[in-house]
Amino acid sequence: MSDQIRLLVVEDVSQVAQYIRGLLNSQSSIKLLDVVTDGSRVLKLISELRPDVVLVDALLQGRVKGMALVEHIHKADSRVPVIVLTVPQQPVVASPEHGIHGVLSMPFTGYELVTRLQAVRQAAATAEHTGTARMVTLFAPKGGVGKTTLAFNLAVAIGQLGQRTVLIDGSLQFGDMRALLKVPLETPSLLDLPTDRIQESDLQDVLWRDPSGIDILLAPPRVEMAEMVTVRDLEKVLSLLRRVYEFVIVDTPAVVNDVNLAFLDASDTILEVVTFDSTTIHSTMVMADAFRMIGYPPAKVRYIVNRADSQGGIDPETLQRALGRKPEHYVGSGGALVVNANNEGIPFVLADPTAAISQDVMRTAGELVGRGAAAASRR
Ligand SMILES: Nc1ncnc2c1ncn2[C@@H]1O[C@H](COP(=O)(O)OP(=O)(O)O)[C@@H](O)[C@H]1O
Ligand SMILES: [Mg+2]
Repeated sequence: MSDQIRLLVVEDVSQVAQYIRGLLNSQSSIKLLDVVTDGSRVLKLISELRPDVVLVDALLQGRVKGMALVEHIHKADSRVPVIVLTVPQQPVVASPEHGIHGVLSMPFTGYELVTRLQAVRQAAATAEHTGTARMVTLFAPKGGVGKTTLAFNLAVAIGQLGQRTVLIDGSLQFGDMRALLKVPLETPSLLDLPTDRIQESDLQDVLWRDPSGIDILLAPPRVEMAEMVTVRDLEKVLSLLRRVYEFVIVDTPAVVNDVNLAFLDASDTILEVVTFDSTTIHSTMVMADAFRMIGYPPAKVRYIVNRADSQGGIDPETLQRALGRKPEHYVGSGGALVVNANNEGIPFVLADPTAAISQDVMRTAGELVGRGAAAASRR
């Protein structure tokens, strides 16, 4: 990968095109390949010129309008990241899932243009390196809402759908999965992975091969050992796992700290568990604000309502209003089946696949895998 960024600009307003040329004239880190005014020629030019980044004016007129072109590029399997150029009156939100990798609002400086191009190209390069696995982190700002139970059963259900799946116990201090699965005390944890140059072969020695068909990366066996896991090591482990597996599921504790943020940042989807409980709903709203501040696109978070049939006097409308949208997934209460299966360390989706709660989890697994397949087929 050379340092120079090859840029294709799609712009039909000559003054704007001229402005961009002017900004790029004075530096050598960007090579302007061409300025195209006709959206219908762009796909062909992308395959001929192989740009690193395409800049598209959202207000492009003609047969293929700006945002339609962005969608065409996204669906055309070209892998090229797109920056959308817009005006403040017509805000566009960056959403890599929809092929909008960056946004530039006019007027912008040469510095903004160059840094945005570099950031988008860097993100695209990282995405290529981190493999194609989908990473889903179960999260909630509240304990006891069902994160661990759902993470385990969803991971097994996704495994049952034929996806190579690894579950990470991100509850580093208390290692909930260790207790749930009753693994021998000496079973290795992510602390047993080498910190530099981790290789695929190292995984064999450290992962717990669960009889349920999935592999599990356990947390350290003792509370104080959690501190020995650094964010850097974690990022390396995640990028390796994403190359080896098709699905990475993470169970997390109810805290916001560096380690949890590393999991959340790296995730394609944050599956946030909510229940019909007023304090849970309140902390979920506080968390939504925090996610907005961090800059996560709204589509990164999907809500899963657990024990959805126990509404405890709270109106589903109230929940929807608080979340600002309809939750994406629902799982009912499983009663004794859940408690018994958890106590035996087996997933309820296998203990009783016909139970309503197992069907709920299988359906959710299908929804998550389906989204993954849709995203992969666009790549
Ligand atoms: N849908 C459900 N139906 C019945 N019991 C549930 C359900 N979800 C979770 N539980 C029970 O609630 C308790 C807390 O669940 P857990 O998964 O440990 O939550 P968290 O990881 O969020 O702290 C466990 O005893 C579990 O068996
Ligand atoms: Mg838990």
